[in-house]
Parts: sequence; structure tokens; C-alpha cells
Amino acid sequence: MAEVDPAFIQAQEHRPKPGIIKAEGIPFIDLSVISSPNTNSNDPRVLDSLVEEIGNACKSWGFFQVINHGVPLAKRQNIEKASREFFGQPVEEKNKVRRNKEKVLGYLDTEHTKNVRDWKEVFDFTVQDPTIVPASYKPGDKELTKWFNQWPEYPPKLREICEEYAKEMEKVAFKLMELIALSLGLPENRFLEFFEEQTSVIRLNHYPSCPISHLALGVGRHKDDTALTILAQDDVGGLEVRRKTDGEWLRVKPLPNAYIINVGDIVQVWSNDIYESVEHRAMVNSARERFSIPYFLSPAHYTNVQPLKELINEQKPAKYKPFNWGKFSVTRKRSDFQKLDVDNIQI
Ligand code: SIN
Ligand code: FE2
Repeated sequence: MAEVDPAFIQAQEHRPKPGIIKAEGIPFIDLSVISSPNTNSNDPRVLDSLVEEIGNACKSWGFFQVINHGVPLAKRQNIEKASREFFGQPVEEKNKVRRNKEKVLGYLDTEHTKNVRDWKEVFDFTVQDPTIVPASYKPGDKELTKWFNQWPEYPPKLREICEEYAKEMEKVAFKLMELIALSLGLPENRFLEFFEEQTSVIRLNHYPSCPISHLALGVGRHKDDTALTILAQDDVGGLEVRRKTDGEWLRVKPLPNAYIINVGDIVQVWSNDIYESVEHRAMVNSARERFSIPYFLSPAHYTNVQPLKELINEQKPAKYKPFNWGKFSVTRKRSDFQKLDVDNIQI
């Protein structure tokens, strides 16, 4: 990225403004009640109050941070270190595992959001049945519904580290989906069936330091088309969330070992707009590179996503037509995902 490609330049109204407005209001939620079940677990009021906190955070912000989530710090540190090692290689090495448009995830440094190039490079892998490209695979193979992974030679344990981390992410994600179900007055396990064959992806993000950080963005404004996103950001900071009340961009303060959670478009549809997927973006800076790792929780490819029957009635009719997640994830056609903002599709 040495020569600055004009493709990185954001339109005036989307450039970072000087000064940072801190996102003081985004809730911090302590998950120790569920991550260490011996703590106060006999008192139902403790769980009720956690469920209420989550519901309020989803309603008013669409975002919250969690602490005491139960993900072992060492697993996070392992993947963060491996990510630095991978991106630290020359681009020719990274290109050996370049993402293939058809069905193979991997390395990419040319992603665009709303037609403007992002100042970043990424490495993606799918978490369900993590598998390598079969020998029989041919580009253009339309029969395949799965995405495949490919793993670089360096760092040598990347695959193992990523798969271990993915298991931890899955645990937190399912816990959060249980709490979200309860907060909507649904049975705890209401969403879990959708994830039996989840199509979730984990992304390693690297945002190099940027000489034109006043003109470019690490990721342009977008909403996630996930059910839920769980983001680990490093201590540099740069994630900005759009406040629902006035549209102002607020900077989420990095908190060591916390995760930032946001509900995505699929929860918006399931909840029939009780919860909304909120716009966010990532800043870059001229002094420091930044790393982040989102886990994108997504349902099985055969899932027909639609407002849950328990949440619709004559007064509150369904606001979305059912659409097939697998079909959408291949075509990314706006018309499949009624009413939602899908201008930018990241996966
Ligand atoms: C994203 O929303 O895609 C990434 C956000 C971040 O890196 O902070
Ligand atoms: Fe995002």
C-alpha cells in the first residue's frame, strides 16, 4: 500500500472528523454469572437482571462490551500473535493463500466497502467443519455450498490456533444468543437450532498505519449481515459506532480482554425490528497499525430467515419476507434480503 491509490479516498462526508467522541454510553456487561456458574447461580434475579441489561443494550445501542466472558486469555493471545506473524510476511507469501472468489477463503487486501477501498488486509476462515480444499475442487464448481479454508505454511500452528479460538467463540456466541432469546421473551434455546450447521466465519484484520488517515477508513460504514458479531480489538482502538439517537460517530474505547458484541441484520429480522443492526466503521491512524478479530455468527446455509412467529401478530406484522441464507450468501442480491441495508457485503 505504499503508493496511495485514489480508490481509498472517502467522499468528504464520510471522512473522519477531527477529534474523537468517546462512546461513553455503550454498556459494559459482566458475564461472570454464566461463565462461572457457581457465582450467584442460585438466585434467578441475577440472571433476570443480566437478561434485562442485554435487552436494553441491544435496543438502545445494538452494541455492548462484555467482560468475564470465560474465553481463556491465552487463546486470544495465541491468535493475536499468530495474526501478527501471518501479516508480517511479504505479500508474495500471503498471496499464496489468496482468497478465491468461488469458494475458498483466505487472504485479501483489496476489499471495498460501498465502492471505496478499505485500508486493511484480512485472512478469513470458516469455523464449521473447518476443512481444507478437497483435491477434486475446481473453480466454478457450483455444486459446493460450503466455503473452504486454506492455511498458510507460516505461522506453522495457525490452523490449530484458529480452530481452538473458534471453539471458544462458539461457546460465547451461543450463550449470548440464549440471553438474547430470553430478553425477547423466548425460550433460551430458541435460536440454537439455526446454528447446528453454522456458516460462521472468523476474520483476522490488519490495518496498517496510514499516511492518509484523514481521508481513508480501515472499513467504511456498514452493518453486519450476521446474527451476532463478537469482536476482539487491540489497544489501538478505531472502531466507531453510529449512535441511534443522532447519527453521531462514537469511538469504542479498547478495554483489555473485553469483547465488543453487536447484533447483526439476521437478529434484526428474527426480532422483527425489536433489535436493529447498527452502522459502524473502523478508523486507521498514521502512527500505529491496528489488529482486530471479529467472529461472524451466521446460521446454517439452509436457514430461511424470517421474523419469528412468536414476535409477530396483527398489530405487529412481519416486516421482512423470508429469505434463504445460503442463497443470499452466494448471490448477495439485495432483493433477497428485503428491507435490509446490504450495500456492503463483507464475506
Ligand atoms: C468490522 O466491522 O468489519 C471491523 C471492525 C473493527 O475492526 O473494529
Ligand atoms: Fe462490521
